[in-house]
Amino acid sequence: MRVRGELAESLRGSGLLYPKIPPIQKYPGLCNTERAPRDHAQPRIPKGRSRHIPPGHPGRIIRTKPPRGRIIQTWIHIVSLTLPERGEMTKQFEGKVALVTGAASGIGRASALAFAREGAKTVVADVLVEGGGETVWIIKESGGDALFVRTDVSKAAEVETLIQKIVETYGRLDYAHNNAGIAGADAPTADCTEENWDHTIAINLKGVWLCMKYEIPQMLKQGGGAIVNTASTAGLVGLEGSPAYCASKGGVIQLTRAAALDYAKAGIRVNAVCPGVIRTPMVERLVGTEAEAGLIAMEPIGRMGKPEEVAEAVVWLCSDAASFVTGNAMPVDGGLVAQ
Ligand code: NAI
Repeated sequence: MRVRGELAESLRGSGLLYPKIPPIQKYPGLCNTERAPRDHAQPRIPKGRSRHIPPGHPGRIIRTKPPRGRIIQTWIHIVSLTLPERGEMTKQFEGKVALVTGAASGIGRASALAFAREGAKTVVADVLVEGGGETVWIIKESGGDALFVRTDVSKAAEVETLIQKIVETYGRLDYAHNNAGIAGADAPTADCTEENWDHTIAINLKGVWLCMKYEIPQMLKQGGGAIVNTASTAGLVGLEGSPAYCASKGGVIQLTRAAALDYAKAGIRVNAVCPGVIRTPMVERLVGTEAEAGLIAMEPIGRMGKPEEVAEAVVWLCSDAASFVTGNAMPVDGGLVAQ
């Protein structure tokens, strides 16, 4: 089922709706040519011309069979039209339960939709009730199962309750994307206020630790799980005017490594993603200002990333395809830290 009405309009172009991809692009492995072009149409005989078509004239195609390759290509095209959408084809997380924090918008929402697409029952946690509810609504409208739990990740009691609610509702927790975060206020190190420092660290770093503190015991009971924490390229390289943010994200990377080692033998993999400049509400405020060109210039790939591009990395890190990957801080950054 598709999202309709005003919400659909507001999400159009954001990539958050399951996009209607032309079938040939959707299955590049089946057919890597462009969409069946109009040049498949047979040349017309101009009015008033003789029906006789001289040898070598393209019009002779009318009387000949199309080349074999073209028949196969046409069949692939027809078959691909009858295949289900990608989301319906691959349900690698069927029967599993995923938690995404900060899933009311941006990367977290894209990640929640990606987990749901893969068949997971998806728990959306955020301080924003409206946005969290919208994420759940989109998932349910698409045929998935989701639950919103209002949670401030910087508060231990709320995180503990979140995990209890997940277990009460779905009986288990297999994947967690600890993603909630804030940019904090911009100021050079000496001008960063104590309040900004404490607030940024409390959500971005302590929040990730608290989530793992309550997720891990449940995963241990089940014999394993996979956790992905959202760090940032600002945890790998310095970013001017963001001391608290850089410190929090660098901390997330080290916390991820420590936790990965603590539970490697227990079947819990812990990794981090380090997004570059991703076009989400966090960055949106700078779009259309002078800062926008500067942000794009940071990216060797020449554009900002999309939340879905981070979400795909998160899904992969949680999947069995990444079964030997733990303690990794994976840049998803258009080459930003490769410079
Ligand atoms: P966003 O602002 O769209 O999403 C962040 C979400 O976290 C919001 O829904 C917000 O309500 C929620 N949140 C904030 N404080 C919370 C709290 N105390 N408890 C629970 N939820 C809370 O921003 P975006 O870009 O999607 O950010 C997601 C993560 O990605 C953040 O950790 C951010 O630091 C990180 N990131 C973002 C980058 C970007 O360029 N957008 C780059 C690198 C990292």
